[in-house]
Amino acid sequence: MLSGDGIGPEIVDAALQVLETLQRQVGHFRLDYRFHEAGAACYQNIGESISVQALKAIETADATFKGPTGLPEVRKPDGTEAGLLGGILRNGFDLYANLRPIRLFPNTATPLKKKAADSIDYYFLRENTEGLYLSRGVGIVTSEAVADTLMVTRKGCDRISRFAFKLASKKKKGAPKDGKRRVTLIDKSNVLRSFAFFREIFLNVARETPEIDAECLYADAAAAALVTRPEHFQVVVTENMFGDILSDLAGATVGGLGMCPAANIGDRLAYFEPIHGTAPDIAGKGIANPVSQIRSAAMMLEYLGETEAAEMLENAVWQAFENKRIELTTAGRIDGSTKTAVMAIQDELKKV
Ligand code: IPM
Ligand code: MN
Repeated sequence: MLSGDGIGPEIVDAALQVLETLQRQVGHFRLDYRFHEAGAACYQNIGESISVQALKAIETADATFKGPTGLPEVRKPDGTEAGLLGGILRNGFDLYANLRPIRLFPNTATPLKKKAADSIDYYFLRENTEGLYLSRGVGIVTSEAVADTLMVTRKGCDRISRFAFKLASKKKKGAPKDGKRRVTLIDKSNVLRSFAFFREIFLNVARETPEIDAECLYADAAAAALVTRPEHFQVVVTENMFGDILSDLAGATVGGLGMCPAANIGDRLAYFEPIHGTAPDIAGKGIANPVSQIRSAAMMLEYLGETEAAEMLENAVWQAFENKRIELTTAGRIDGSTKTAVMAIQDELKKV
């Protein structure tokens, strides 16, 4: 457990309370966890964004559960934010698949008009270890110019494409409404050779599963399509920075980032976290939306093979919205307290 900074500790605690209830209801898994230091507070304490003990624990744990980390005022000497673990954990443990389910819950404050619950239901898959962010901290810098390089590798494009098609073949239900299985690559292959390379590898992988539609969209057109026809998508896959930007856009279409969980998955290890930041402006007030963190716990259970428990948890959150026990204001914030949201979900779990 890495509880993080800002609202992190509050929403991680909320998720744990819900997991305890779920465990009592389901009975066939056992929670066994340790907290470790990581994030901006950790950087201030020990001069590193994560402790060696935490890294060792991640190596041996079945999974890692992480709150958001980083605080805008805690910076490294080069001006970038301290306490961010993206580069350390994703690259360090080769967690190449960043999986972000984009699902419209009932009664959420989506800015899109006339969308029924579940009309938006797709996986946003972001390549997590290369692309432009491979340049994190290693760009060329002089006093007059700075260069960051976008690099994609054959292995990287191949494995994320395979992950996408596997996901599309497994996905049980949800959009697209035309009943097709579909993987959409978002790129900019009309302009950059790196993306033309990615596209070629993607289309090669696609040939192995002809029953799944493979399509390609330019990133600018995709930005529009994710807003104007989100029900079209089932799995979208893209490069690291495009994925960072467009998954926030996608999150906004389903009521804001406070709704959005994520999994960072490699061949051996994984960690689970919300897609949003630490919201320092509301930290400590007991009003943070715990839904993203709680749904991250559901993704973790799914990863651990506790499929039934994962579904129960996701459904309980769904029901809490359906029954208007949790309501959103704007940008994924809840109307009410973290505690009442937790209780609403616990009550739904107990009904099962
Ligand atoms: C995310 C975050 C991180 C990223 C930040 C905090 C470094 O925005 O998970 O999307 O850019 O990857
Ligand atoms: Mn982001």
